[in-house]
Amino acid sequence: MGLLDKHKFIETNATILLVGSLLVVSIGGIVEIAPLFYLENTIEDVEGMRPYSPLELTGRDIYVREGCYVCHSQMIRPMRDEVERYGHYSLAAESQYDHPFQWGSKRTGPDLARVGGRYSDEWHVDHLTDPQSVVPESVMPKYGFLTDTMIEPEYIDDLLKAHKMVGVPYTDEMIEAARDDFLAQADPDSDYDALLERYPNAQVRNFDGEAGISEMDALIAYMQMLGTLVDFSTFTPDASR
Ligand code: HEC
Repeated sequence: MGLLDKHKFIETNATILLVGSLLVVSIGGIVEIAPLFYLENTIEDVEGMRPYSPLELTGRDIYVREGCYVCHSQMIRPMRDEVERYGHYSLAAESQYDHPFQWGSKRTGPDLARVGGRYSDEWHVDHLTDPQSVVPESVMPKYGFLTDTMIEPEYIDDLLKAHKMVGVPYTDEMIEAARDDFLAQADPDSDYDALLERYPNAQVRNFDGEAGISEMDALIAYMQMLGTLVDFSTFTPDASR
């Protein structure tokens, strides 16, 4: 029997063909899936990534509450047009502390994964208060009320605890100091050395320029941190995985 005849035998016999296909697909499946059980972690550890500071985490909650993700994604795909517009493609590690993640599937507005540092705080205040004053054709809603909504960080340690429960490595010390850290980050006159030790590269200032800590402060603190934690001038992907 020649090779072609053997093939004809398989292709004209439904049962054999089915069993053969199953065998081939199973091998392919095992090769792809089995290694995942032996890798300790499919997310590469990346220098610079740290849990969000209490103020940033609060801002993130406001971002989720206001549904910013409905119009904004936070994932730069590894394609040239995206990388040229938004910067280095997003790493898995950059959303490793996001619960829930904010990748998003809809871009009515631009991707925000690296919006941190792109604009001044004042720009953000103006833009969030009245987007059309900055970008006349914008369809983004106004969020000026955030400036008038003050935050008393009454439950901030509970917020950190909840994130710890789902795997974010907040230490007992971080939870204990959550209230102090929250207040310190929005007050440049405070003693914020301990905050910076716990949350390296946290930006400390009065984000909305008004007295007191408002939801605007928290949201801008979050925005200005986005995409800034990993230093891409020194980052090299781990090719061993
Ligand atoms: C209805 C859709 C919509 C919603 C909801 C929305 N935005 Fe936008 N956003 C836009 C559009 C469109 C733009 C582009 C025009 C502009 O800059 O206003 C934009 C731009 C931005 C920019 C500037 C980005 C850049 O790189 O230029 C930021 C920052 C931003 N939005 C933050 C937010 C935040 C924070 C929220 C939630 C509080 C939010 N947006 C909610 C539609 C939306």
